[in-house]
Order: sequence, then C-alpha cells, then structure tokens
Amino acid sequence: MFNLILFGPPGSGKGTQSEKLIAKYHLKHLSTGDLLRSEINSKTPLGLEAKSLMDKGYLVPDEVVIGMISSALDTNLQAKGFLFDGFPRTSTQAEALDKLLALKKTSIAVMLALEVSEEELVKRLLKRGETSGRSDDNNDSVIRERITEYNKKTTPVADHYKELEKVIMINGEGSVDEIFSALCMEIDNRMKAD
Ligand code: AP5
Ligand code: MG
Repeated sequence: MFNLILFGPPGSGKGTQSEKLIAKYHLKHLSTGDLLRSEINSKTPLGLEAKSLMDKGYLVPDEVVIGMISSALDTNLQAKGFLFDGFPRTSTQAEALDKLLALKKTSIAVMLALEVSEEELVKRLLKRGETSGRSDDNNDSVIRERITEYNKKTTPVADHYKELEKVIMINGEGSVDEIFSALCMEIDNRMKAD
C-alpha cells in the first residue's frame, strides 16, 4: 500500500489536487470534510452536530473523525493506498491514524504539505464562497477562525511527521498544473525508494 497525507491550511488546494492525484495513482481519497458534508446532506445526527461547529470554523471532535476514518479503512481493504485530505488535523488524530494503519500492517509513506500565504487563502475561499454554497466559505471571520484553528491545532501534526522524516514542503501558489507536477515528482521519487 502507498498511503499519503496531503496537508495544508484551508484553501491551500488539497481537494483540487486530490482529484488529480487519485486519478493518476488510483488511490482511495479520504476527505473528512467531504465525509462530514455528506452526513450533513443526509441530515444524520452526526451531521447536525458537526454542522454547528463547521459553520463557526471550529474542528469537530477527534472521536467523530477518527471513527469515520476507521470505518472507511475497514470498508476499503482492497485499495492500493489511501490519500488522506484534511485528516489528521490534531496530534491525537495523527497518533490514532498511525495505530489504525499499523493494525493493517501499513503506514504513511509521505506527507506533502502545501504552503500558501494567508492572504491568498482568504482570497480563494471568499471567491469560492460566491458559488460553492459552503456556509463556512462566505464569511471573512469564519475563514479567519478556520485558519486560526489550523495554526493552533493542526500545525503540530506536521511536526509529528517531520520527526519521522516524512514531510516534503510544496509551494502551493502557482497554477494547478504546476503544483500537480511538483506533487507527482515527489510521489514518484518516494514510490521508487519504497
Ligand atoms: P475541509 O473540508 O477539510 O476544509 P478545509 O481544510 O478548510 O479546506 P478546503 O476544503 O476549504 O480547502 P482545500 O485545501 O481542499 O482547497 P481546495 O482545493 O478546495 O474541512 C471543513 C471543516 O470540516 C473544518 O473546518 C472542520 O470543522 C471539519 N473537519 C474536517 N476534517 C476534520 C478533521 N480531521 N478534524 C476535525 N474537524 C474536521 O481549493 C480552495 C479554492 O481555491 C477552490 O475554489 C479552488 O478552485 C481554488 N484553488 C485551488 N488551487 C488553486 C490554485 N493553484 N490557484 C488558485 N486557486 C486555486
Ligand atoms: Mg477540501
């Protein structure tokens, strides 16, 4: 299995690049944001609880997303590998992921971390908010709150994988195709080394 984490702040391009990467490398895309939005659309109790936090820009509780990832891993045992997008987002989630993968005799091969300035993130998300219907995109203060949550709770996740020498920083500004090429180069190198 080849498992990768696509890491970066809100609006850094994780979803955009994930679509292209899963098509090229045939990985199973696991986005906790997408899984939560599908719970919201189905109006499940979990979705209703998550929505009130997501609308404010706060993270949902660790046990909720860890549970979702755990069952997604179990139902996709035949996958060639997983692309994690928007997960793990706290140190607790990172430790849980490492354990879940170890139980399946696999691990994270690499974390690719997209770097984008805060000014560019806010610009991208406000623009998407004009059309996306995502209630966490159309308000400047909610976007700032998402970035604050990221800086406070999510950046330690990169430190965790840096200690394991698994992190590669990628410039997340430029054209979608340029960034995709940079990601592919690093994945190809890492796959060759495995
Ligand atoms: P989630 O859905 O994960 O959202 P996010 O991390 O805030 O990031 P986005 O999906 O908004 O951005 P992205 O990096 O995917 O960028 P995208 O490609 O879309 O999480 C939402 C919420 O769910 C969280 O706030 C939290 O409440 C909850 N949640 C989710 N996971 C959780 C977890 N593990 N633990 C706890 N809570 C969790 O691009 C953004 C925009 O920019 C698009 O319009 C795109 O077209 C554009 N764009 C992309 N690339 C470029 C480029 N190169 N140049 C110009 N524009 C570009
Ligand atoms: Mg996304």
